[in-house]
Amino acid sequence: MKYNFDEIIVRKGTDCVKYDAVKELWGRDDLLPMWVADMDFRTPDFIVNSIRQQLDQGVLGYTQPCKSWYDNIIQWVRKRHDMKVQKEDICFVPGIVRGIVFALNCFTQPDDKVMVMPPVYHPFFLVTEHNNRQVVYNHLDIIDGQVHIDFERFEQDIKGCKMLIFCNPHNPGGRVWKMDELQRVAEICKKNGTLVVSDEIHADLTLPGYKHHSFSSVSEAARMNSITFMAPSKAFNMPGLSSSYSLIFNPEIRERFNVFMESSEYSMGNMFAYSACAAAYEQGEDWLNQMLAYVQANIDFTEQFLKDYIPAISMLKPQASYLIFLDCRKLGLDQEELVNLFVDKAHLALNDGTMFGKEGKGFMRLNVGCPRSVLEKALKQLQQAVG
Ligand SMILES: Cc1ncc(COP(=O)(O)O)c(C=O)c1O
Repeated sequence: MKYNFDEIIVRKGTDCVKYDAVKELWGRDDLLPMWVADMDFRTPDFIVNSIRQQLDQGVLGYTQPCKSWYDNIIQWVRKRHDMKVQKEDICFVPGIVRGIVFALNCFTQPDDKVMVMPPVYHPFFLVTEHNNRQVVYNHLDIIDGQVHIDFERFEQDIKGCKMLIFCNPHNPGGRVWKMDELQRVAEICKKNGTLVVSDEIHADLTLPGYKHHSFSSVSEAARMNSITFMAPSKAFNMPGLSSSYSLIFNPEIRERFNVFMESSEYSMGNMFAYSACAAAYEQGEDWLNQMLAYVQANIDFTEQFLKDYIPAISMLKPQASYLIFLDCRKLGLDQEELVNLFVDKAHLALNDGTMFGKEGKGFMRLNVGCPRSVLEKALKQLQQAVG
């Protein structure tokens, strides 16, 4: 491998959330952090250099999106995800969760019904609640180690919902949705007048052997009735830069969203976000492919380790991203006991599965975006704790 993903980088003491918020959140400092979704790998040089170049210009003034920001997004999503995008379809968004909040405020009213599909990335329902919309929970089924949509129930629950916040690929399930599943979601939402917000932040982390389908590209119904959010942040390990964007293909929806964004200057990006995104998409392919191969090996290592040494814990095998939903139900513990096992006995900081909804009971989410040696240490600590 050309890049060294085994390198240990000391992040503690840099004010990074993953290490430096552990004390505040868990009340102790002796836990190996395997939680929040960023990676312990070095952010690649081409990103850091793009920022350095801007610093070297000597003035940190207001900055407009560079031409290469548009061009490189267009080329990247075409090459990587077969998407046809034009410049006017793109709008800068300072973070995907914020983008979802903007969409909620732009397209729904207080008390409107908004659907989420748990277990799912928790801000989906938290920001919906905090913005005084009614959350409609349409839970996913966990069958044969993967999350699945029950379409009969989906079709019932979607009635009256103004918006669906959809996770594509899915976090924490790690699922890459199939074309026909997305087409069915699109059809049902169109029929019910439900706008689909497709969060595709994990799209570039689709693992070897799987193909990400952007929601907008699966049918005309999907393209004309959706907002897609994407970002280079997860794939290139630069989430601290808040460098996301929306893709909207329906001119009316786009116009409404752009006016909303511009009228409050929400779409004003920071100078580093534009250039880092452009650099990632121009120079990042080789690094990304190698990083994904390393993450895949970490996932395979985890799977084998669990089989060999901790058979009471299995996993939803990710088809995208470096987050593994560990199925600990066979341990027969209630959730408090399960969390205590991970924290007090294994000295690990993972996300409690119930953070993603009550469907996450019996689960813990493990982040394997780290050097293999760290992962091995974490799994050995878990093995000892389980006994
Ligand atoms: C599905 C999903 N959406 C959004 C985010 C966060 O995105 P941002 O930091 O751009 O708001 C995450 C982070 O883990 C995520 O998993």
